[in-house]
Amino acid sequence: MSGTSSQLQVDGKTVDMAIKTGSIGPSVIDIGKLYAQTGMFTYDPGFTSTASCESKITYIDGDEGVLLYRGYPIEQLAEHGDFLETCYLLLEGELPTAAQKADFDYRVTRHTMVHEQMARFFQGFRRDAHPMAVMVGSIGAMSAFYHDSTDISDPHQRMVASMRMIAKMPTLAAMAFKYTVGQPFVYPLNSLDYTSNFLRMCFAVPAEEYKVNPVLARALDRIFILHADHEQNASTSTVRLAGSSGANPFACIAAGTACLWGPAHGGANEAALKMLEEIGSVDNIPKYIAKAKDKNDPFRLMGFGHRVYKNYDPRAKIMQKTTHEVLNELGIKDDPLLDVAIELERIALSDSYFIEKKLYPNIDFYSGITLKAMGFPTSMFTALFALARTVGWIAQWKEMIEDPSQRIGRPRQLYTGAASRDYTPIGRR
Ligand code: CMC
Repeated sequence: MSGTSSQLQVDGKTVDMAIKTGSIGPSVIDIGKLYAQTGMFTYDPGFTSTASCESKITYIDGDEGVLLYRGYPIEQLAEHGDFLETCYLLLEGELPTAAQKADFDYRVTRHTMVHEQMARFFQGFRRDAHPMAVMVGSIGAMSAFYHDSTDISDPHQRMVASMRMIAKMPTLAAMAFKYTVGQPFVYPLNSLDYTSNFLRMCFAVPAEEYKVNPVLARALDRIFILHADHEQNASTSTVRLAGSSGANPFACIAAGTACLWGPAHGGANEAALKMLEEIGSVDNIPKYIAKAKDKNDPFRLMGFGHRVYKNYDPRAKIMQKTTHEVLNELGIKDDPLLDVAIELERIALSDSYFIEKKLYPNIDFYSGITLKAMGFPTSMFTALFALARTVGWIAQWKEMIEDPSQRIGRPRQLYTGAASRDYTPIGRR
């Protein structure tokens, strides 16, 4: 391999393949013509060595623990910015001016209500439905309620659909929560900022005055910033693949939400908190560490490990600080779950199994403790992740749709099934 091209020897034939270089990060070998030239596909289950697209949105250096949105380090955005500013940045590519920010906030705020008929649509779900089941269904149903923004070839409709999803996701997530606890839906209040409004829609009841705690609102806003995008992860790739067929954006985001639900992805925050509760006390930690290391035991330390980060997840560091801020604000001095988490992290980080496999705490390790302290039930954790990731999914979907070279995504396979054979009538089988 040299310079801007690489060579591959296949069956005595030499195939030249261009090397493409990005602005930072690993270069890629362009194998687009490999099949035409060799009759062979590449094979990479789990896509560990495959770049599926070109993107200008988010950059991760997993070895160094770096995460950049449009070039800006996550630490700086989480410290100085707010979630809607991050949304603007991800969608538009630049930080907004004060006037652009005010206009963006205004437009998002004016889209926060959902069609009144959606409230009746919710009544179709079982009372005990998981909020993520309700989210997947209701986000998909938005394409039925907002079909005036489903024409993906119209830039104006794309923009309206994007604003609608960013604005309405908190309303839908709060409705999913209220529905499962049997309380009336709370309408959005446009005098509040995005995250305060969400807290109010979740925790206010008609019988009482509700005052948003600004420390909790700021902490949750930061959690949203941390979850806003993460390059080509499983759910984002799902959104892109669904969108590559020309499906409408609401359907694509519903597909991404379904993918996020899995415990190896966004469902890990719920699973991590359940695990901490199951461990229960610091004395039980060695038993669970042993289980995690046992090859014959499927148990994994939830909230540990990451496909890309082979170093501390930079989001986990900010999350840990946020956890302490929230617990302090709420006057929770001794949270047994936090004690278990801190000790588990300490032991795992000094254990050779975790060191050798580069398994560090990820964002989901501390987020559950924080969200629980704020009053969210574990079943809501992944819905909050979906709310925050919506902007990333939309930014990635828009980038793909606006790329003139975009084609339907269609991976191939290594077929290992039966070779061609003749049909046997049922009486002769
Ligand atoms: N506990 C114990 N062992 C682990 C863990 C863990 N959490 N994670 C990975 N390993 C081991 C695994 O058994 C394997 O060992 P070996 O090489 O001996 O077979 C090795 O580490 C590599 O694991 P892998 O499954 O091949 O790695 P992956 O890149 O396919 O999976 C992961 C990444 C995040 C799915 C995995 O680390 C995991 O299941 N972690 C727990 C779930 C979790 O916290 N997920 C949240 C990810 S961050 C938020 C998000 O992206 O949504």
